[in-house]
Amino acid sequence: MPHAPGRDTEILAYTPQVAARTAALRDRLAAVVPDEEWPAHAPEIDAILRLKQQRDAVVLAHNYMTPEIFHGVSDIRGDSLALAREAAKSEAAVLVVAGVHFMAETAKLVNPDKTVLIPDRRAGCSLAESITAADVRALRAAHPGVPVVTYVNTSAAVKAESDICCTSGNSVRIVESLGVPRVIMLPDRFLADYVARRTAVEIIPWPGQCEVHERFTEEDIHTMRRAVPGVAVVAHPECPRDVLEAADHVGSTAGMIDWLKRERPASVFLVTECSMSDNVAAEMPETRFVRPCTLCPHMKRITLTGIRRALETLSPSVDLDAETAARARVPVERMLAVR
Ligand code: 13P
Ligand code: SF4
Repeated sequence: MPHAPGRDTEILAYTPQVAARTAALRDRLAAVVPDEEWPAHAPEIDAILRLKQQRDAVVLAHNYMTPEIFHGVSDIRGDSLALAREAAKSEAAVLVVAGVHFMAETAKLVNPDKTVLIPDRRAGCSLAESITAADVRALRAAHPGVPVVTYVNTSAAVKAESDICCTSGNSVRIVESLGVPRVIMLPDRFLADYVARRTAVEIIPWPGQCEVHERFTEEDIHTMRRAVPGVAVVAHPECPRDVLEAADHVGSTAGMIDWLKRERPASVFLVTECSMSDNVAAEMPETRFVRPCTLCPHMKRITLTGIRRALETLSPSVDLDAETAARARVPVERMLAVR
């Protein structure tokens, strides 16, 4: 097998057999994956499908994965909440998380005895980086008795200091489920602000933000509305308040997709990471997706080659310190119990 220069992985051949086995998928993704790219993707997809069977593995893909991963090799797809829920139910021996590190840690927390793989350990998250376990302890000391609601976009060590977790898909429900007048909500200040405006609960925030969503401005939305009259605008709650107020709908990545499939607008601007537009565009050819491309550099560390290598070597695996894991599991399981 030839090797890519300077890289520790071989280039797989695009044989006529591989072309035939992947032809239906190529046709389905023709609108979002250029023809010239297919010979590079197809052999990886073909190898991954075989390896998944050999390893009794499933691939969980976040909505921000590129379409060749999202539609090509994943078994479970969705937002952070869906991935956590489905990970908890999975019977496979090996879970490969095509997403960022905190998502793989969450999958491990609910599956302590399974092998959980993250194809690139460097796939981090600016929100998870913004806070430490010591910060949470200091917040608790400053606000005694106030419960800590922690976004899943955090490390297991931070979850271990928390009362309950939430995702963007259930944040309002989780905060209201506590039945208290005040909560500490961390680490995303924009999600905290979004929840504060939708509940009667006083929110004590932490100044973290997502490096992708914080960049959108209200002016981006006005510019888009002027350029594409009638365009629907759907935003993720990690965006700043003025962006959310200028949007037609706000939701988690799964909530955005549900809204689109229900409303079926002629054109839409999804104010979020742009691979999601490609993934939904592949299923909604009648809708025009207009998108200034904003990629999450962490999500983009996950590639087909990385997934194949993870399945071949059963590494890198997520291994958590037993004591931290036992404590971090509690707020995640509390979250999953809230319907
Ligand atoms: P969702 O839970 O909405 O998929 O969000 C995860 C995320 O990282 C958004 O940037
Ligand atoms: Fe984290 Fe933002 Fe990337 Fe989501 S898009 S993983 S919140 S940095």
